[in-house]
Amino acid sequence: MSETRAGSGGGVIGWIDDRFPLTKMWREHMGDYYAPKNFNFWYFFGSLALLVLVIQLISGIWLTMNYIPAGDRAFESVEYIMRDVDYGWLMRYIHSTGASAFFVVVYLHMFRALMYGSYQKPRELLWIFGVLIYVVLMAEAFFGYILPWGQMSYWGAQVIISLFGAIPVIGPELAMFVRGDFVISEITLNRLFALHVAALPLALIFLIVAHILALHEVGSNNPDGIEIKEKKGPDGKPLDGIRFHPYYTVKDLAGYAGFLILFSVVVFFMPEFFGYFLKPPNFVEANPTVTPEHIPPVWYFGAYYAMLRGIPDTFGGVMVMGAAIVILFFLPWLDRGRVRSIRYRGLSFKIALGLFAAAFVLLTWLGTEPAGSWNIILSRVGTLIYFGYFIFLFVYTFFNLEQTKPVPERVTMK
Ligand code: HEM
Repeated sequence: MSETRAGSGGGVIGWIDDRFPLTKMWREHMGDYYAPKNFNFWYFFGSLALLVLVIQLISGIWLTMNYIPAGDRAFESVEYIMRDVDYGWLMRYIHSTGASAFFVVVYLHMFRALMYGSYQKPRELLWIFGVLIYVVLMAEAFFGYILPWGQMSYWGAQVIISLFGAIPVIGPELAMFVRGDFVISEITLNRLFALHVAALPLALIFLIVAHILALHEVGSNNPDGIEIKEKKGPDGKPLDGIRFHPYYTVKDLAGYAGFLILFSVVVFFMPEFFGYFLKPPNFVEANPTVTPEHIPPVWYFGAYYAMLRGIPDTFGGVMVMGAAIVILFFLPWLDRGRVRSIRYRGLSFKIALGLFAAAFVLLTWLGTEPAGSWNIILSRVGTLIYFGYFIFLFVYTFFNLEQTKPVPERVTMK
């Protein structure tokens, strides 16, 4: 394969290279970035998340051209986009489906990290950037959902923002600060619009760049959970590594094609996705005098909402919900396992991770269903399993109770 040398002086690229590290950056992050050769299906989701980010930015900019963030115009401007703007319906459905796709992709991406111990040393900071991305993404999605100013937008905001009010002493003032008014109003809509279209996308982009720089600093983990940098050939390149470009750029493009087919099926044939992506009450304009009977969150917040409802005291519920996210930051220090990958970890780890994932899916579903006594009981069980996973992992690895399998010297290919 021919290589371009930085600053070689030839042509336009050479001219740029003498003034800007274009070829150097390309080499460092693509052409000369050695990634483990045993990446599997689970390693598609990072680059898919990048694709969804681009889809959201482009469709979002398009929507912003016609959306009006005013209390008496927001709902009708969305209707206008759907009916009168050329391909406006397409942009809106791409954006609303993209929000859910983002969470599907990110949840699978995070689960991969749990399976292969990708958060363990030396990837702790990479993981922390990831959790920060997740938090910002949740805020971004929540604010975006409020913008169409439908019944669910309004009442969802009402429920979530009033949770701040449950915090002792500062709560009521804090809720007022967030709303900017005594009730959810146009002022709230304006500030959430500013955060949704400017501040949070910028924060996301910054965090994603940091995430990828941190990844390239330490190198990718892989399904065997071994460091490919430790076995280098005479040329100084990892024996089990292959250049990211062209090998993984081409592989990821195949993943993109598969993803876009599924994405298009949803956008064109089932954009509401059985009420999970877009809820019917949100096609009715916000009405502060009519409270909907059931105010469920969008599916991707379901797990946290189920945890909140499972606790009788609102402040306690808010604390548990917050703790469920904060605990993720500490995972690299809670898991002191000697091996990374699930392939070589003890049976108890496999069972615990399986239960954890099942509990999260169960909670997600419970959170979107109306509250009832069985729902509350199951939510409590799910919440216990969720936190139990972290406690188990700490005890299991701190006291060295794990029976691991021998880890191979070199990556394995199936
Ligand atoms: C917009 C959201 C995100 C984007 C664009 C993104 C992008 C990427 C990319 C491109 C990779 C390398 C390819 C891969 O390993 O799949 C990666 C790796 C990784 N990401 Fe993310 N990511 C996002 C969110 C997250 C979140 C929310 C977490 C965890 C909370 C996370 C944790 C990780 C970890 C631990 C790795 C290293 C995996 C390994 O080497 O085994 N990421 N990310």
